[in-house]
Amino acid sequence: MERTFLAIKPDGVQRKLISEIIGRFETKGFTLVGLKFMNVSRELAEQHYGVHKERPFFGSLVEFITSGPVVAMVWEGDGVIAAARKVIGATNPLTAEPGTIRGDLGANIGRNLIHGSDAPETAQSEIALWFKEEELVNWQPTILSWIY
Ligand code: TYD
Repeated sequence: MERTFLAIKPDGVQRKLISEIIGRFETKGFTLVGLKFMNVSRELAEQHYGVHKERPFFGSLVEFITSGPVVAMVWEGDGVIAAARKVIGATNPLTAEPGTIRGDLGANIGRNLIHGSDAPETAQSEIALWFKEEELVNWQPTILSWIY
């Protein structure tokens, strides 16, 4: 079963959208296996966004993600990495499809509410960066046979 890393960014928390956002993954049928509400250190932010180090928006990205608490999560399910990206929508909320989290709830590329791993390799490295092994809960909901 595949796992992905998702994080509700400071704007989602400030706007009281935690339950709205988590609800979309829960009702879809994915399984929550890791969850923590936390402040992000500059070191963690710079590591997480390391691939964007040379981009002009890197500084503001780090400022933003460290500006207030985030909800860090690991979700599990068949094909969850790509499917979660679909649920999240395009990077720019202004062009993200209606029905997606960013399309429905956002209006600015720098305030796009949620992060989601973009591939199996990044999912693996981001889960390892944000969570210790013992913080993840290995379980299977008993309703699984009604989803798959
Ligand atoms: P990226 O990994 O390209 O997008 P996504 O979050 O959809 O995987 O970029 C990381 C974050 O950087 C993105 O969520 C918002 C921010 N960003 C900007 O502020 N300006 C930009 O032009 C881009 C491409 C991203």
